[in-house]
Amino acid sequence: MDYKIIELKSTLSTNLFAQELLLHEKVEEGTVVWASEQIKGRGLGNNFWESEAGKNLTISVILRPDFLAARDQFMITKIVSLGLIDFLNSFGNLHGINIKWPNDVYVGLKKIAGTLIECDIKGNSIEHVIAGIGLNLNQERFYSDAPNPVSVKNLIHTDISVSSSLESVLYYIGLRYRQLKEKLYDRINSDYLENLLFYKSFHQYLSKGNRFNGAIADVDSFGKLQILTDEGELKSFEMKDICFIL
Ligand code: BTN
Repeated sequence: MDYKIIELKSTLSTNLFAQELLLHEKVEEGTVVWASEQIKGRGLGNNFWESEAGKNLTISVILRPDFLAARDQFMITKIVSLGLIDFLNSFGNLHGINIKWPNDVYVGLKKIAGTLIECDIKGNSIEHVIAGIGLNLNQERFYSDAPNPVSVKNLIHTDISVSSSLESVLYYIGLRYRQLKEKLYDRINSDYLENLLFYKSFHQYLSKGNRFNGAIADVDSFGKLQILTDEGELKSFEMKDICFIL
């Protein structure tokens, strides 16, 4: 994919900037909004995304997957998370890199990256996607109440170039996007499951005030989490209905 980078020193949120851009002009696929600083970085559920100015990667990539049906939009979440996994694996010395369902990227039990994927759907098709990515690179201390944040520097004690990381992250996401375009769904689905934190192993979860023990069995095409409870029941969850106990 050809990328066109819009580099900003500071903005409220790159996703918001991308949204406004899309309102006012015809934005090409591969346009990337990259900000050194976000004043009001957004996380899932309107949480704040903490990122110290100049230290980390905060970008929004605009995609136009006209080859993908709206009902398959969760595939975008999968390929973006996998692109980040591929990027982190390229360091060679980071261990325990996983996707925490649906789209957080963890190293061990700490969160190193988050994605905010916003799809604009018209009927059965996807008009555009804003794939927001926050990846902690050089920030050493985190002050918000974000649970378990960690950066690459926290882990390998080396400064990481933000601009080379941008290039590299876009390269890996581009490869995964190509797999999607080529309809290599089985490959993407199995890579996603293989990299999923707690896949097929028993852990504790919390749902509607109840703690239970279960193992992730699958993630359906809509992105719902399927858990096999230790009582042998297969249960399906949306994000708002389940909490991992780490
Ligand atoms: C989450 O884990 O809650 C998702 C975090 C997503 C943060 C990124 S940073 C770049 C882009 N712009 C935003 O305002 N949010 C996303």
